[in-house]
Amino acid sequence: MTNNIHQAAGVIIESLDQDGRGIAHADGKVVFIEGALTGERVTYNAYRKKPSYELAKVDQILRQSFMRVQPKCVHFDMCGGCSMQHLDARAQVAAKQRILEDNLERIGKVKAETIMPPIYGQTWGYRQRARLSVRHVIKKGKTLVGFHEKSSRYVADMQHCEILPPKIANLLPLLAKMNEGLSIRDDLPQIEVAVGEHVDVLVLRIMKPLSNEDEATIKQFADTHQVQFWLQTKGPETVVPFYPLDAPALSYSLPEFGITMPFSPTDFTQVNSSLNRLMMSRAMRLLSPRKGERIADFFCGLGNFTLPIARSGAEVIGIEGSASLLQRAAQNAASNGLEANTRFSVMNLFEMNEETLAKLGHFDKMLIDPPRDGAFELVKALGADAPQRIVYVSCNPATLARDAEVLVHQKGYVLKAAGVMNMFPHTSHVESIALFERQ
Ligand SMILES: C[S@@+](CC[C@H](N)C(=O)[O-])C[C@H]1O[C@@H](n2cnc3c(N)ncnc32)[C@H](O)[C@@H]1O
Repeated sequence: MTNNIHQAAGVIIESLDQDGRGIAHADGKVVFIEGALTGERVTYNAYRKKPSYELAKVDQILRQSFMRVQPKCVHFDMCGGCSMQHLDARAQVAAKQRILEDNLERIGKVKAETIMPPIYGQTWGYRQRARLSVRHVIKKGKTLVGFHEKSSRYVADMQHCEILPPKIANLLPLLAKMNEGLSIRDDLPQIEVAVGEHVDVLVLRIMKPLSNEDEATIKQFADTHQVQFWLQTKGPETVVPFYPLDAPALSYSLPEFGITMPFSPTDFTQVNSSLNRLMMSRAMRLLSPRKGERIADFFCGLGNFTLPIARSGAEVIGIEGSASLLQRAAQNAASNGLEANTRFSVMNLFEMNEETLAKLGHFDKMLIDPPRDGAFELVKALGADAPQRIVYVSCNPATLARDAEVLVHQKGYVLKAAGVMNMFPHTSHVESIALFERQ
């Protein structure tokens, strides 16, 4: 009965959670409501009921937020690729800023001395890396190529996408058609997209060999649409270029630092290259690397931060868990003329301890850019010889906040500044950067 009364009057959305869902309270429970925005009064349909919380989808919007906008994509309600297109783009960033500050205060018990203005890159067509699923659905009599549906393992039936680069978005139905004509149409579960500055690569994950006809079909598609296909038969290390073999190499550049970064389509690279350039400017301003300094770049990947740091003349050690990425980083250092002041080392940074860290020697500064799990072991391992300055780039505000708690309350750092970077517009992912200085 209480629930029905609530439903008639609706609930008020207090804020957005990390997945872009509206948070409300009803009958002593927290309700996470997909499609609802802060300040709105809505009714909802719960699809999961637990003792302390419910997951729900918005039913009716009784009072609408003035920040609500018409989603640009016709597939927005169903496709899981985006979760926030119904919120004004600037308001999305403001919401992410609140999530960052809230995490820092609630989990980290810290407050940044300065909140830096958000960094904005391209808002649409920005996603240069994507993993698309492919399914031939007999019931629909066709192949689907796209992201998963919202909260489901089904592949979204999408004809277009507003966050993929337009050329790739326009290829979605054509790739689906191509797949329908292949002998291995049921054994090609994924297409990985990697857009470079001089070539667009599509990696076909194939579970069975291609027939001669399949090869001809794929080659014709590549010629018609000016893409390069690679094939992947098992893990990411098995990728090989397929056609055309004389395409330019995949690469992105950081013109401010005179750097070009070749990469393989399955290497980790930032998905949004325009934002990556802006992020690099901000990170280098905060880190302010100088000749004569010794700097560590932890979780360095293929050297995205290592090489701009090295460009300053500082000595940089890039440390990372993937040997193949480090090999690429060393090649990239050499091809950019930076091999003299860069060194790379493979290490599992989730197993870092004080002794191992001390063996790496003294660092004046550190850049830390961990995966979602954060850098808990690394920050706990900082000892008496800890660096003066740490720039921490994060893709998960909860683990940044947890690590900030260690840095500020146990290791003597001050959180000088923090801010969000809009790396993934229209999704709920929060990318941020923080500057810690040792007192
Ligand atoms: C967010 S990416 C950053 C990469 C790089 N800084 C960049 O901007 O391209 C995180 C990196 O952490 C690495 N990584 C993940 N787990 C790790 C671990 N346990 N030890 C060391 N590196 C790890 C990944 O291989 C990946 O390159």
